[in-house]
Amino acid sequence: MSESKILLGFEISSSQPIYIRLTHTVVTGMTQSGKTTTLEAIIHRSRIRAIAFKIKRGEAGFHNYRIIPPYFKAGSGWQYVESLVNVSLGEKVKYEPGMRGAIMRVAQGGFKSLRVLLEKAERLANDAKREFQRDLYTKLTEYLKLVVPELERHNFSDKIEILEGVNVMDLSDMKVETQSLVIASVLEYASKKLDNIIVVIPEAWEHIPQGRMTPVKLIAASYIRKGAAIGNYLIIDSQDIAGIDKEPLRQCDNWILGRQKDKREVDRTLEEIFKNRPSPEEVMTLPRGVFYACLGNEVYKVYVMPSWMEEETAKAIALGKLTVENVEKPKVMEEEQMWKEKYEELKGEKEKIESELRNLKRLNNVSQNYKDTIKSLTETVKRFEEENKKLGEDLKTADEETEKLRKELQGFREFKDALAKIIPLPAEIAASPRSVVPSEVSVTTEQPTISVQVQRKPLSVTDKDLLGKVAIVYADGELGEEWFTVSNVTKSFEKHAWPRDPRTSAVLDDLVHWGFLEKRYSGKRPDYKVKIKPEDAKIKRLLKVEETT
Ligand SMILES: Nc1ncnc2c1ncn2[C@@H]1O[C@H](COP(=O)(O)OP(=O)(O)OP(=O)(O)O)[C@@H](O)[C@H]1O
Ligand SMILES: [Mg+2]
Repeated sequence: MSESKILLGFEISSSQPIYIRLTHTVVTGMTQSGKTTTLEAIIHRSRIRAIAFKIKRGEAGFHNYRIIPPYFKAGSGWQYVESLVNVSLGEKVKYEPGMRGAIMRVAQGGFKSLRVLLEKAERLANDAKREFQRDLYTKLTEYLKLVVPELERHNFSDKIEILEGVNVMDLSDMKVETQSLVIASVLEYASKKLDNIIVVIPEAWEHIPQGRMTPVKLIAASYIRKGAAIGNYLIIDSQDIAGIDKEPLRQCDNWILGRQKDKREVDRTLEEIFKNRPSPEEVMTLPRGVFYACLGNEVYKVYVMPSWMEEETAKAIALGKLTVENVEKPKVMEEEQMWKEKYEELKGEKEKIESELRNLKRLNNVSQNYKDTIKSLTETVKRFEEENKKLGEDLKTADEETEKLRKELQGFREFKDALAKIIPLPAEIAASPRSVVPSEVSVTTEQPTISVQVQRKPLSVTDKDLLGKVAIVYADGELGEEWFTVSNVTKSFEKHAWPRDPRTSAVLDDLVHWGFLEKRYSGKRPDYKVKIKPEDAKIKRLLKVEETT
């Protein structure tokens, strides 16, 4: 919101702060004298919303601003149409005999859009009965054709949305005539719908010229008149003031005059506004940023403090201790070119970063694959190690068992050797009776039937040898039908008063081998059972018991 007193800058030599009142203001001075910097400082420090226009490529001059879309809405009434024609003609319409009447007739009853207006002019030209009239409307149609399609070429917003600070509409790609129509349209909108705002008119000599009507000039007068009541002000930013219409200039209470080169322009300005104070030489040698501020009846020579500057620095400049050239200003002041360079630079960096990012992603994928492979390899190695460890343990157990068995075997060998020394083995048993097949085996199955017949010699035994003794026990049916052990056989021997014989189990094994007995293990102990009952063996003549004397 606006404040009544706004710091403009510091007086040269005294460094006294100079304040201005927010009102209609003219800032003038040759190019690069610091006009835009001055009005930005005023806007910034009054904390008001301002609308400015960028009318030339690469030029805006603001340090801090936001771009808003251009607004345009055609005005209404014959005066507006006349200003349109003026825009296209660039001269006063009243010199065209009968033209104002024609304009009034075209505008009569209002028009929805400029296209509708143009079509109406064309229709009137076609319908005109008299040649004079037909000429007028044809000319009017042609004038309108110079501006209407140009306006239709651009995209315009139908409302204005602004924030505190400088809001810039970029009109740099429009013809001056179109710019004028847009600025006028904004002034009209501001007059009707906004309050407490500033509209900055750039290059006022173009848009509020002396001696000719333009759309801006048409509306500026009423904007200025109404403005003070609702806090809407105009800032006129112009390199010279000689060509500006005097009416709006007269409404400006603040005059801020910067350096001028042109002596005639200086003279005219001083004559008009400053009543010959200061001298033309003084105006022509003003440094950048230093202005003569005519505020009411007082004139001050002021160093204007830019919005981005510290007070101490500004005071030092006002006192001549520092020069503007020595002050480092924020980069953003370099405007479009800088932004363009910055943009290109950032774009390049962005592309570089993006390509690096792509590489990184690729590498990441590759490294992920490696990681996966390494992980699975590690797992495999781990599994192998575990299995290896287990195998090692098994091997150890196997070694131990082998060793145990080896020892046992050694024990048996020693035992066998000891026994052999005590009891010499009978020759017939030593001569492997296992090679003889004294049995007859008949096997019958389901189809196919295989019948094997083995010729067996009848087994003749006596109680003179161990086999004979075991056979006798068997033949007598002493082995029964249940499982028996070697010691059962030994017990039977006792009944016959035969001595124990350590080879008994070997003989039993022979009988198993021949099919008379069968064998199984109860733990480590061998058990035997009669397979061919002794009476059957006798019947089959497989067993013959002889009594010897
Ligand atoms: N008071 C100041 N202190 C320091 N630097 C300034 C000051 N005024 C203007 N400048 C610098 O001088 C240069 C021109 O300023 P600026 O754009 O305000 O001039 P201008 O009068 O608006 O020019 P143009 O007529 O070309 O628009 C800019 O670089 C600006 O930063
Ligand atoms: Mg400027």
